[in-house]
Amino acid sequence: MAEYNYDVLVIGAGPGGYVAAIRAAQLGLKTACAEGRATLGGTCLNVGCIPSKALLHGSELFEEAAHGTLAKFGVKTGPVELDLSVLQGEKSGAVKELTGGIEFLFKKNKVDWKKGYAKFKDAHTVEVAGETVTAKHIVIATGSSVTPLPNVPVDNDAGIIVDSTGALALDRVPNHLVVIGGGVIGLELGSVWRRLGAKVTVVEFLDQLLPGMDGEVRKEAAKIFKKQGMELKLSTKVTGATVEGGKATLTLEPAAGGEASTLEADCVLVAIGRRPNVDGLGLENIGLSLNARGQIETDHDFRTAVDGVWAVGDVIPGPMLAHKAEDEGIAVAENIAGLTGIVNHDVIPGVVYTMPEFAGVGLTEEAAKERGPIKVGKFPMLANSRAKTNREPDGFVKVIADAETDRVLGVWCIASVAGTMIAQAAQAMEFGAKSEDIAYTCHAHPTHSEAIKEAAMAVQGKPIHM
Ligand code: FAD
Ligand code: NAI
Repeated sequence: MAEYNYDVLVIGAGPGGYVAAIRAAQLGLKTACAEGRATLGGTCLNVGCIPSKALLHGSELFEEAAHGTLAKFGVKTGPVELDLSVLQGEKSGAVKELTGGIEFLFKKNKVDWKKGYAKFKDAHTVEVAGETVTAKHIVIATGSSVTPLPNVPVDNDAGIIVDSTGALALDRVPNHLVVIGGGVIGLELGSVWRRLGAKVTVVEFLDQLLPGMDGEVRKEAAKIFKKQGMELKLSTKVTGATVEGGKATLTLEPAAGGEASTLEADCVLVAIGRRPNVDGLGLENIGLSLNARGQIETDHDFRTAVDGVWAVGDVIPGPMLAHKAEDEGIAVAENIAGLTGIVNHDVIPGVVYTMPEFAGVGLTEEAAKERGPIKVGKFPMLANSRAKTNREPDGFVKVIADAETDRVLGVWCIASVAGTMIAQAAQAMEFGAKSEDIAYTCHAHPTHSEAIKEAAMAVQGKPIHM
């Protein structure tokens, strides 16, 4: 009899876990994956990336029809009405198809799904739904969940104070939605409900939106979202909330302290960040401790401090992004199989899927300057022929390069398709490109991506179209 039931047991079937499990099975390892949720795919497929993008897409179509973008191009519509239940149905359909797709891939690759929440008994043994399962290697991919805000209790069923999961499932368009937190979730889901007719106020603790992004991008984001009709209350904190008669009343204070004020809303979205899922995992049974931020630390190969136990995704340090988790999932499986799995954490793109999209990869201008002398090239989307023709004037591309070596250190884009454009910048950086390499790469015309070439030309000296 084999020493263990499995070569690999993965805990959690989000983008980190399900990808690790499939890759391990593809590499010939006998693999199981424990997942307590009723469907596979984790936060991303069930209550994250996928449902939010469905609502972003649908609400964008609604706004284009209702507010004249279609008419501007000669597409006449009758009176435009929203059927929210149809939109929510499309969203649920996409989620069902994609989560079902992972179940199909598990079967195809012979990954056993252990239905339940796993708890460590020792470093090679977990208990899942009453079953004891042993494995030579165990990968923790338990992801993250919403960070609660003290004195602002979320109740997704009541639908007044909600988190991202509640905000994805509203059955009405709020009159006034207050978003607490001007980060990625706040701006994406705030945009959804603004487009569908809500007045949206964003309360952000810091003096700018989108922490972690390039300073100029953050400033431009504030201008763009204000122009779109969002009210921004920056440098402001929420200290409490009461709910009465279908309305919430929030108490606000300047972040630096000062006089309190109140704000009423019929819906409040709490989106102040996410924290790793480690409760109930039994880490104490294997002697694995957490860092100061509650995360599991790993080495470059995704090994934890406990032999045979590995970890990937939102539960370890780094940006909480699905593609980062997926790449770590592939790498950890390859490392377990004795291959060399590597993730270059310096080149992980980040995208905010609003209109326009905000995207970046590598260093911000502020961080690059701290590292040494740099050259910066910028090109406005207003001067890009395709963006101009599509009447998408907002945004710019910025390329940051080392002043001495010309190596690209960071690229930032605000454009309708910035999320797609940023892939070429990530690939160039992965290949160690200089800005000159991008400037002399032939880009198809007319495309938004030409703005990346022109920004790289601006690093070199001058772009053509400006
Ligand atoms: P998760 O996806 O959180 O999966 C972990 C899984 O582990 C869960 O299903 C959980 O049920 C399970 N689990 C936990 N504990 C146990 C246990 N003890 N036993 C068994 N199972 C367990 N990222 C992007 O890159 N792009 C986006 O557009 C994007 N949009 C987002 C929108 C929203 C609203 C949210 C909330 C997040 C979004 N993210 C996005 C972030 C993305 O969802 C996460 O970075 C990603 O899901 C992390 O993957 P993971 O595998 O580490 O964890
Ligand atoms: P976030 O970290 O992006 O933003 C949270 C914001 O809340 C910050 O700006 C922070 O300063 C602010 N904040 C914190 N405490 C506050 C308080 N008390 N009052 C007011 N503001 C406060 O976190 P968010 O938006 O919750 O998203 C969580 C994670 O999910 C992110 O790390 C992100 O990577 C991921 N995600 C990614 C998406 C994408 O890739 N498009 C989409 C949605 C989420």
